[in-house]
Amino acid sequence: MKNILIVYYSRQGHTARMVRTIKAHLEELGNQATVMPVAEALREGVDWDKYDFVLCGFPVVYGTYHPHVFEFVRNNCTQLDKKPNAMFNVTVVARTPFKATVEGNRYMQNFLNRSPWRPKDLKCFAGKIDYPNLNLFDRTCIQLIMKITHGPTDPTVCIDYTDWEDVKAYARHISELANNA
Ligand SMILES: Cc1cc2nc3c(=O)[nH]c(=O)nc-3n(C[C@H](O)[C@H](O)[C@H](O)COP(=O)(O)O)c2cc1C
Repeated sequence: MKNILIVYYSRQGHTARMVRTIKAHLEELGNQATVMPVAEALREGVDWDKYDFVLCGFPVVYGTYHPHVFEFVRNNCTQLDKKPNAMFNVTVVARTPFKATVEGNRYMQNFLNRSPWRPKDLKCFAGKIDYPNLNLFDRTCIQLIMKITHGPTDPTVCIDYTDWEDVKAYARHISELANNA
């Protein structure tokens, strides 16, 4: 049984849902898992001694990660490096197989270029397009991006590209990493 910390950012709630699923599966496998929004980790700090493993999950919005993400990895790089750890990103480009690979996902490459922390394990998940729940500005921007990248533009649809079985398999993978470290 390991104590796993999951630090995440979520703008629209999808990454938060993925993190809750991962937490539930980690706990089914006998681990203890604590989820913490990155803003809270920055504000309150992290009691690093409590945790055996750290997992970070960050979505991409408008081509980049929230500034809190880089602030967190910059401020905590030494602590992160000391522990077994993993990181996943969530993007809509990962709906195509090549862009769901670490090498093919430019946002993952962008993270690795900008981050002083080198996660020991990386994963790219496809996220969700939820047109009805976007404001007019976001909806129009996403429609434009989708038009260019041959994705859906119908403003009435919500498309979840996340493979939830893969999210569960990922939780098993994280449990193995944590317990074999
Ligand atoms: C306003 C907005 C901008 C986005 N920009 C990008 C982007 O530049 N590239 C991309 O691959 N996905 C982009 N996405 C897709 C998100 O990564 C995806 O919707 C993810 O599921 C969002 O996670 P969250 O609900 O935890 O914030 C964007 C989504 C929104 C709502």
